[in-house]
Amino acid sequence: MLKFVHQAIRDIRTTGSVFPSSPALAKAMTRSLRNHRGAKKILEVGPGTGPFTSAILEALRGHDSFDIVELNNVFCAHLESRILKPFRTRHPSINVKLHAMAIEAAPLEGGYDFVICGLPFNNFPLELTQSIFNQLIALMRDGGEMTYFEYAGVRTIKRPFIGSGGREHIRRFDAFRQSTAKAHMVTRQLVVANLPPAHAVRIIKRQGV
Ligand SMILES: C[S@@+](CC[C@H](N)C(=O)[O-])C[C@H]1O[C@@H](n2cnc3c(N)ncnc32)[C@H](O)[C@@H]1O
Repeated sequence: MLKFVHQAIRDIRTTGSVFPSSPALAKAMTRSLRNHRGAKKILEVGPGTGPFTSAILEALRGHDSFDIVELNNVFCAHLESRILKPFRTRHPSINVKLHAMAIEAAPLEGGYDFVICGLPFNNFPLELTQSIFNQLIALMRDGGEMTYFEYAGVRTIKRPFIGSGGREHIRRFDAFRQSTAKAHMVTRQLVVANLPPAHAVRIIKRQGV
């Protein structure tokens, strides 16, 4: 927890929140992959100190594979020593790989069944959000599922305190979310037991999009 708060103070733009996500949000974010039968290929982007990573690792079975992409080296060192090393010792045959770099630069093959995304899209310029979104959708197989989270009501709370540039950003971001919802199948689940409460947003990739 302290490690996360410290990194958030150092760089709030990429960290995006002050507290790590709760176990309840981690459960919602990983619900579909826990219910999946058969081998699964998973990508997690922006794990931070690893609340979703731990939930994903618990759901891994023999032929699954799991790629993790994290930009912040302090978080990468923490993930390796506290979470991934102990997991590899217990499950040497399961393929788990940490890529210490930005998702924009990560050499990934694609074909993912599940993408779990912890990126703070609200903090990014719209063009970066759109390009990462499109990259993640392209990395999924048809019918694959991406889950990301958004803090509940954050745009409504921010609106009176930001200038016209900020409001224009929110308007364009909302328009982009609506076009994504039209192109794919999108559902939302509110998780109250998180600080602040958040929606887990699931996008199922339509064939050929
Ligand atoms: C809001 S935090 C979420 C952390 C964790 N998933 C959680 O929910 O507690 C966002 C994380 O995304 C990482 N991040 C930001 N931009 C990134 C990028 N372009 N590529 C990969 N990771 C990135 C940050 O370093 C941070 O760990």
